[in-house]
Amino acid sequence: MYDKLYHKLAIYGQEHLLRFWNELTVDEQNVLAKQINDINWDELNKLIKEYVLSKPKVNIPENLEPAPHYPLNPETTQLMDLYKKALVEGKKLVSSGKVAAFTVAGGQGTRLGYEGPKGTYQITPIKRKSLFQYFSEKISRASEKYSAIIPWYIMTSEMNYHETVIFFEKNKYFGLDKENVKFFNQGTMPAIGKDGKVLLETKNSLALSPNGHGGSLLALRMSGALSDMKKRGIDCISYFQVDNPLVPIIDLLFIGLHHLCKSEMSSIMLSKTGPYEKLGNFCVSDGKTMILEYSDLPATLAEKRNSDDSLAFIAGSPAIHIISRNFVQRLTRDDSISLPWHRADKKVPYINGKGVKIVPEKENAVKLESFIFDALPIAEKTVILEAERGKQFAPTKNKTGVDSVESCKSMLIARDAEWLECYGGLRIPKKIDGAPDCVVELSPKSFLDGEDVKVSKDRLKNKDIKSGDVKYYE
Ligand code: UTP
Repeated sequence: MYDKLYHKLAIYGQEHLLRFWNELTVDEQNVLAKQINDINWDELNKLIKEYVLSKPKVNIPENLEPAPHYPLNPETTQLMDLYKKALVEGKKLVSSGKVAAFTVAGGQGTRLGYEGPKGTYQITPIKRKSLFQYFSEKISRASEKYSAIIPWYIMTSEMNYHETVIFFEKNKYFGLDKENVKFFNQGTMPAIGKDGKVLLETKNSLALSPNGHGGSLLALRMSGALSDMKKRGIDCISYFQVDNPLVPIIDLLFIGLHHLCKSEMSSIMLSKTGPYEKLGNFCVSDGKTMILEYSDLPATLAEKRNSDDSLAFIAGSPAIHIISRNFVQRLTRDDSISLPWHRADKKVPYINGKGVKIVPEKENAVKLESFIFDALPIAEKTVILEAERGKQFAPTKNKTGVDSVESCKSMLIARDAEWLECYGGLRIPKKIDGAPDCVVELSPKSFLDGEDVKVSKDRLKNKDIKSGDVKYYE
């Protein structure tokens, strides 16, 4: 086995990976051999030349325009009619079991610095429900409300699959039917040193990491999830990230619009708060919709203004999509997918030539990831729909500061307080800055949306809230 592996690796100058072979047990040798054999070395070698040994230039098309979108508030009667029809269509699709939920939860959540899969992080302000529990309850209520099964596909990575499944098992799937919750792994990519050499994490393992959320499209097919969806008659996949508890998951208008417009991949957009807000930018070039990372949008475009002084490139992406099952089927037809890679320079612990573990203090390696939004230009038709920031997007990336646990909790409280005020008729005490001067939490098991709060108005009345109150509503 050694000779065969050595020969394979030597062609690409990666034979150092076998440096500790003779120190390994047979089982350990098998693990390493499998990792090496699972890699397409021809392909990896090309990527190393293109993305590691030289810094790839991002190709910014010259004729970039802002991508058109459907506005939050329809202003013409034509649009109002379309939105009305879309709501009806969305409800029809969900009720007839044609919509699945899909969470990408394979990331490593390094910024959050939390041991364990991010979905197990306790995010709600009072009951400390985990992200997974919060989503489970939303799906459960949506199933009840629309009398339909909404299967939930959760993509993990090799690094967090077991912990994720055990978490669900231990919590009895939070009341969901186990048959309708499917886990599967995404692919991995090895981390590569700046010198082009693949890094070893231990003597018998490469330094592997998940291959980006773009890996979800191929993983859907290779895991059998796509076939399962076909069997169940799923047409639309509601894609969301594990760190955004505000995502509606089942958004009837969005689903309906996607379907009525015959879109293959649709996206929610938020109006950016400034030219350099750290959100991907929706653009269009030669009729193709695309998202350009905030760091790639040229300053002249980022700062470009319309005649009313609004930003020309106003549309930012919160990474919420509806993807047609047929589109994923088409993209992955040959059991492969062609999406560009993105280079990220990272600190990756590794063992050196002497077998000593090194924890680097500065970026020493390159990780390659593909991104889901790079599928947008391949779609025949796309739809972009504006949403209200405080209603759909509260990312939990960091412990404190921007996009943090703190900001996420505040947004959950603010959204629930607003529902209680607008739909429940309760008076909410406010601080000087307008934020609620109380802590409230609505259980998604009963309150999926404003309408659910409205129908419970009688139950909620006489439950006025005073400054400093902490109240949970079940
Ligand atoms: P992020 O880009 O925020 O990455 O992922 P992350 O790994 O969670 O966090 P950091 O950057 O290490 O702090 C956005 C979403 O995409 C998923 C994540 O789980 C999250 O839901 N993701 C990311 C994957 O599923 N796989 C990946 O390879 C990368």
